[in-house]
Amino acid sequence: MLSTLATVEDSQKMYTWFEQMRQTQPVWLDEESNCWHVFRYDDVNTVITDYQRFSSERRMQREAVMATADAQNKRPRSGRSIIAMDPPQHRQYRNLVTSAFTPRAIDKLRGRVAQITQELLDKVVANGNMDFANDIAYPLPTIVIAEMLGVPVSDRPLFQSWADGLLRRQLSDAEVFKPAEEQRNNPELQHFARVFEEMSDYFERMLEERKREPHDDMMSALLQAEVDGQHLSMDDTISFCTLLLLAGHVTTTNLLSQAIRCFDEHPDTLTRLNREPELMPSAIEEVLRYASPVWRIVRTTKEAVTLSGLTIPQDATIFTWLSSANRDPQQFPEPARFDITRTPNKHVAFGHGIHFCIGAPLSRMEAAVALPMILKQLPNLHVDRNEAQLFEGRFLFGFKHLPITFDAQVQ
Ligand code: HEM
Repeated sequence: MLSTLATVEDSQKMYTWFEQMRQTQPVWLDEESNCWHVFRYDDVNTVITDYQRFSSERRMQREAVMATADAQNKRPRSGRSIIAMDPPQHRQYRNLVTSAFTPRAIDKLRGRVAQITQELLDKVVANGNMDFANDIAYPLPTIVIAEMLGVPVSDRPLFQSWADGLLRRQLSDAEVFKPAEEQRNNPELQHFARVFEEMSDYFERMLEERKREPHDDMMSALLQAEVDGQHLSMDDTISFCTLLLLAGHVTTTNLLSQAIRCFDEHPDTLTRLNREPELMPSAIEEVLRYASPVWRIVRTTKEAVTLSGLTIPQDATIFTWLSSANRDPQQFPEPARFDITRTPNKHVAFGHGIHFCIGAPLSRMEAAVALPMILKQLPNLHVDRNEAQLFEGRFLFGFKHLPITFDAQVQ
């Protein structure tokens, strides 16, 4: 496995590694970290779907969080997050926000997404070049989720600094999964915990304001929500908000950037999309499969489980590589071919089962509205591959910087 991922070439090496692993060690124990890795589509699907045997609760680095709280003389936060919950609690909490993400609710946001896209394009169309990641792909979903939650859009630089702080992690799995007592003095984990603390303090202030003066937004809705007749605790509400803010922007940022990168690498698709714009939704699904924005997700075994002939013990951490599953030839004929008409295309880029991404309709809509506008208003668009820079770490696959050139438009 590559220790750093910075360039498009690095990511191609990851895909070569996936191919080897699917063939030779589809279920692999990394002895250094004592974590298991699963690469084939069927195994990945089993792990992420079968919540009876694979828990979403994870071995968190609580120690680092506690130590940071200690050092700042603060009470450690106890908030829980749906992404790390199992049934029955998971369903109760997830139900609190599903109504905001139904296709009908999302459809109502189309106009606003088009307006934000246009405002962002207006700032750059005359230049002939830009950093697509910074100028369009990052701000668009961030503004949308900030407005949905009810936090001021002007705080965007703060959100970006948190996302950067959480994504910059360069630790190996072995370092992350060290015994708790060894975590305490790890500066990277402490940095991670400090960013979390800062986000939590921010949301606490925002939520206190909303308590005094409710608005028509998700923060106010969460404050009014009840599970088993009880309001959520402040820490749980904060956790919900931080999850929605983080999951709601960097992932879609990656989808938009990867779409531009894929179209640039396959210019025939651009010609086709120009001729047949109705193919855009299926092109977006192919981007999600071919360059999945989330590399891998994690589960813990609740009992010993046999996958592809190998037995994984109880309480083991398993990384399921969505990006490898989405290139498995058993499921996708010619998986390395970027085919915007691929049918069927049952990719697992949004996960599967009870934790299937809540925001999938939102990010699909954002891409479907924004990409045609971008392609139309930035003719002759090209990516500068040499200057493109990926997010570090092994969780998200997308671009921190994606310089592009295009024919400048006279305004
Ligand atoms: C869950 C990917 C956009 C909110 C997930 C999961 C994946 C994923 C793979 C499953 C995690 C697991 O099973 O452990 C993506 C991708 C996106 C995207 C690829 C964009 C292209 C969004 C957006 C939001 C969002 C826009 C909105 C606010 C969530 C939440 C969960 C989740 C709250 C947890 C659901 C649960 O545990 O029941 N996402 N996501 N995501 N996503 Fe997304």
